[in-house]
Amino acid sequence: MSFDLIVKGGTLPDGRVADIGITGARIAAIAPRLQAEAGEVIDATGDLVCPPLVDAHFHLDATLSYGLPRVNASGTLLEGIDLWRELKGIATVEEMVARALAYCDWAAAQGLLAIRSHVDTTDPELKTVQALLAVREAVKGWMDLQLVAFPQDGVLRAEGGMKAVVRALDMGVEVVGGIPHFERTMEQGRDSVRLLCELAAARGLMVDMHCDETDDPMSRHIETLAFETQRLGLHGRVAGSHLTSMHSMDNYYVSKLLPLIAEAGVAAIANPLINITIQGRHDSYPRRRGLTRVREMAAMGIPVAFGQDCVRDPWYPLGGACMLDVAHMGLHVAQMTSPADMRRAFDMVTVVPAAVMGLADYGLAVGRRASLVVLDAGDPVEAIRLRPPRLAVVARGRVIARAPRGDAALALPGRPVRVRRRHAAP
Ligand code: FE2
Repeated sequence: MSFDLIVKGGTLPDGRVADIGITGARIAAIAPRLQAEAGEVIDATGDLVCPPLVDAHFHLDATLSYGLPRVNASGTLLEGIDLWRELKGIATVEEMVARALAYCDWAAAQGLLAIRSHVDTTDPELKTVQALLAVREAVKGWMDLQLVAFPQDGVLRAEGGMKAVVRALDMGVEVVGGIPHFERTMEQGRDSVRLLCELAAARGLMVDMHCDETDDPMSRHIETLAFETQRLGLHGRVAGSHLTSMHSMDNYYVSKLLPLIAEAGVAAIANPLINITIQGRHDSYPRRRGLTRVREMAAMGIPVAFGQDCVRDPWYPLGGACMLDVAHMGLHVAQMTSPADMRRAFDMVTVVPAAVMGLADYGLAVGRRASLVVLDAGDPVEAIRLRPPRLAVVARGRVIARAPRGDAALALPGRPVRVRRRHAAP
């Protein structure tokens, strides 16, 4: 028996220590010890080997545009939307492609190999869609890039909004998006959810809506999204992104709402870096965090993923394609500090978003696609704590990135010369 590549002795997310044998683009064997020839061997002894990081919520059309044409002075969602409107008027397809590809390079280096990106469909020429279709084609050899038709200015509020969404889908965008809280009225918000879900049902597509990204506890479009999912039989194909109004809703209403979401099989995508930055901007003190009810939803069996949402764009000045940063922030803001919750936070940037995106070939199992990451960490919780170097990134059987360990050289009398911040549980 021989393999093209063996990843030796790594610790898998479930704690097993195993060798992974890869042939071509597939995982051919996983066993405690593989006695076989291999074209290449990666020694992962003591290191975490996990499936790729996954981001179920991002905006590749706007990324790496920070400061163009100016920065967001108020830090609010609404100023960000205004700024983006200005930018998309002047940005060329080529510029958007170049910026998005640069981000995909960052992602590849960080072991982030699947991204669901919303694509603004309210630009009349659909330059954004043209750009991201080109990017999807360019990265298809190593990254699953899934595109969502996202009517940023409101599918009913923007002239020709629905036509543009349909055109984007016809061009090859695969998921239906929306933004009900940005429509003119609550009523129109509800109508937009219904119409977009009907469109998805008619075409057999998934749905992922920006939903209730506001501090207004009366913004309850998630209720309509769950209802329409149920009515149209879209179970398992629908996600509500952000859901920040849920942070401010009263507990009695939430106690009715969460079972409806669970019953409808709707997934939730929280974006902790962006939500903690953008929400609560109209508050004095106490200032609301604005993150949706992550632990409570997860406890009800609702799939909850963490997304990055923005990097260096009109809404957020920081970020670096590191989904462990996202999990780190999410864990803190949602107070997920029990051992089980910390472990769950790792799933929220790996297996849960992979399931939300419907990535059937994802995961460390024989026959699946041979995509994985070797991290300079002992286990998933340590990966979140350290956000360490990705020692190797393998995409479909090919090693596409390597990085050195994160050790520092120390020069202190009587102290070790090499410092690693790894720390095994007692
Ligand atoms: Fe978003």
